[in-house]
Amino acid sequence: MDKVRAKAFMGSMVGILNNGAISMMLSVGHRTGLFDTMAGMGPVTSVDLAEAAGLDERYVREWLAAMSSGGIVDYSPEGETFELPAEHQALVTRAGGPLNLAAQMQYISLLGQVEDDVVESFSTGEGVPYSRYPDFQKLMAEDSKARFDAALLDVIIPAIPDAPDMLTAGCRLADVGCGSGHALIMLAEAYPDSSFVGFDFSDDGLQTARDAAAAKGLTNLEFVAADAAAIDRPDEFDLITTFDAIHDQAQPAKVLANIHNALVDGGHYLCVEPKAHSALADNMHEPVAAFQYTISTMHCMSVSIAGGGEGLGTAWGTELTTEFLETAGFSDIETVEVKPDRTNTYFVCRKS
Ligand SMILES: C[S@@+](CC[C@H](N)C(=O)[O-])C[C@H]1O[C@@H](n2cnc3c(N)ncnc32)[C@H](O)[C@@H]1O
Repeated sequence: MDKVRAKAFMGSMVGILNNGAISMMLSVGHRTGLFDTMAGMGPVTSVDLAEAAGLDERYVREWLAAMSSGGIVDYSPEGETFELPAEHQALVTRAGGPLNLAAQMQYISLLGQVEDDVVESFSTGEGVPYSRYPDFQKLMAEDSKARFDAALLDVIIPAIPDAPDMLTAGCRLADVGCGSGHALIMLAEAYPDSSFVGFDFSDDGLQTARDAAAAKGLTNLEFVAADAAAIDRPDEFDLITTFDAIHDQAQPAKVLANIHNALVDGGHYLCVEPKAHSALADNMHEPVAAFQYTISTMHCMSVSIAGGGEGLGTAWGTELTTEFLETAGFSDIETVEVKPDRTNTYFVCRKS
């Protein structure tokens, strides 16, 4: 028994307990808009912050106590004031776009809602279906919107060979597992001479997507309810994208084969998947590895297993993704850096 190690582990466990709790308060701060209100206010009392945010002072004061003892905001006992330091602002405010990790903290609370189901699955080996995650589409849409707004048109689409020119001239692009459709709506607006199709099996996501497209009066895109494992549209699209939509499939190999089949010869496929290696040993020192394996257990692996699938998991990783792409028939597989998005790997490949 190494007493030093035991003591260090105790400190680590206390840190984990605190950080788990703080993650929920970060989520609350994001959802209530408190961080956005605080940014730029300078030192502020709980009374003034509550008034500025239009919220209840007692709740705001308790939240500030958690945030200041948790090291998120600064606290000055004289004057009882709190300040969100400039150095922290991008990481907790909407102005930070894809850098806003307070928005990501919402996943912790969301996934806590299915803990009973997941615990049960440890005994049964069965999965947890998408229908058990009531707010998943809403949160996913918020999360990916920040990334798409920051990078889709200027960085992500230009990463696909010739894509901006093809889209300007007029081509056909499909997004499989399109969720709430924000990427396609941006593309349909930016490239009016091209046509776009989004496939998903989520009624919630598709409804949001259709409403948003209708509100913008877009006529060059449609959202189709479909199981990606059953899409049969041979040689129809010049470009296909998937954004975080393969690893949680029940039948990922079939979905990739369908995407290959749906492309014209020479058509390009952009496959965006969580950044990881396939072997645990290679991920051990990655900063978000524990987060990825947790999200996987609580959602991505479990929804795949619920569909009778193989449960690849969030961190199925670059090596295995490449194998799956090759097996589906893709060639010229390259990974591309997309600077504002540090959490995903962008695979660009071609139907030969
Ligand atoms: C992690 S979300 C990503 C959504 C969207 N691409 C984004 O980036 O916001 C995965 C999406 O794939 C959809 N999906 C999962 N399995 C599917 C299947 N077999 N057929 C169609 N859609 C599926 C889910 O409904 C969900 O919208």
